Parts: sequence; C-alpha cells; structure tokens
Amino acid sequence: MQLDMRPQRLFSASTMVRTTGESEMQTTRSRFESWARTYESSVLQSLLYQPVHETVLTLLHQHPPPQCSRALDIGCGTGRLVCALQQLVPVVVGVDVSERMLAEAATYVRNDPSCLCAAAAYVCAAAEQLPFGSGSFDVVTTTLSLRHWQDPDRGIKELVRVLSPDGVVVIADADIGEQALRARRWLGGRARGRQLGLLLDNWGMDVVERRLAPVRGPIPSIHVLLARRRRSGR
Ligand SMILES: C[S@@+](CC[C@H](N)C(=O)[O-])C[C@H]1O[C@@H](n2cnc3c(N)ncnc32)[C@H](O)[C@@H]1O
Repeated sequence: MQLDMRPQRLFSASTMVRTTGESEMQTTRSRFESWARTYESSVLQSLLYQPVHETVLTLLHQHPPPQCSRALDIGCGTGRLVCALQQLVPVVVGVDVSERMLAEAATYVRNDPSCLCAAAAYVCAAAEQLPFGSGSFDVVTTTLSLRHWQDPDRGIKELVRVLSPDGVVVIADADIGEQALRARRWLGGRARGRQLGLLLDNWGMDVVERRLAPVRGPIPSIHVLLARRRRSGR
C-alpha cells in the first residue's frame, strides 16, 4: 500500500452519494466540515474524546492481535487516535467523509512532534464503502463516528471485510437498542447510537471485552467494545 500523508480524495463526492444516499451523507459531511476548524479546541476533547481514546488504547494493549502491522481508524476526524495508535501499530490509516477534518488532521500531525507522521495516511471515504482490499488491516477502530453513519450495518460489514482473519475491532459509541432509540426520539430527545454488540454479531464478530469510557461531565455513557472474528463451531 502506497502511503501519503496528504489528505487524499479517493472517492469523489458524487461516487459516495450514489452508493450511500445523498441528503443524509451530505448533511453529515457539511456538519463536520463546519465543525472542523474548532474541533481541536472543543471542550469535548478532554471531557469525551480523550477518555474514549485512552480506553481504546488500553483494550488494544490488553488484547493485541497476533500480527499487528496495519491499523485503520474510521471516522478519524482530526486524527488524534490515528497518532496515538502509532505507539502500537507501525502503519495507521485514517478515513473520514469530511475533507476539512482530514486537512485539520494533517495540521495536527505536523504540530505534534510525538506523532510519527511518516507512517500515517489519510483517505477521504465513507465507512459504508471503504476503498481497501479485504483483510488489509489487523486493527480497525472507530470512535464516536458510527452514530453519524447513514447505514451503520453496512459500515460494520465493510469494517469486518477489511479486517484480517485474526484482527481485532474496537468500537466506541452509545450502546442503545432500536426500540429505545425510537422511544427517545418520539419523546423529543436526540438519542444517537446503536446496539453495538448486535451489529457486530450480525457480521460474525464476538465481543471479547466491553468497558465504559471514563467520560466527564454530563455526557451519556460511551461503551468501548473489543471484538474478534467468531471461530467456526462456536
Ligand atoms: C464526532 S467525530 C469523531 C472523530 C474521531 N473519531 C474522534 O474520536 O475524535 C465523527 C467523525 O465521523 C465522520 N463521519 C461521519 N459519518 C461518516 C461516514 N459515514 N464515514 C466516515 N466518516 C464519517 C465525521 O466526518 C467526523 O469527522
């Protein structure tokens, strides 16, 4: 795989919208395009994102895959987890639908001397249509992004496709069932998330460990799940 630190656009906007549904994907992308410049200075970095990223790294330290040479972070935003993953994995790729988020990621990497820039690459693409071959990554992570995917089930299918046979997946998000989601929305809430274990189970993944991230302030629970491919016969 040829790695390039510059944000890349492997899919044109029109390619992505044809396959994943125009309006919702465009709305999500626009929301994050406008948030990109201030995302790094948001108070949510210390209250939410940092504790979540630390939990992801702890789980990966405790359950490393047998081979650990390539990682993919889906919905990578400004690339903090991409940088942090380089402590564990030599080559890390970040994917996001927002080009501005990826541009900020390149800046963040340049400004952080502890980040091993040479081994990271950023690609503009949707979780639902990943531009990588099957089994390309030993570790696949996604933090607080799945809640924004237009088709989480298809995104998880793609995530599992690009995972190597012995690879591990770590997903962090709200964990909530469809009925509860609908009920909360009906009551006027902005409930987001999905039943994470079920999504993974549907695509042949077993949850090996689950933690609650130590988020701070009035932030709803964020679950962090580490999963491996189910072995046949189980
Ligand atoms: C709340 S941010 C989280 C960013 C990062 N994972 C973190 O923990 O700081 C959500 C990110 O998911 C991206 N995103 C939303 N929908 C996506 C999709 N379908 N495919 C890929 N990225 C997506 C957004 O552009 C945004 O950068």
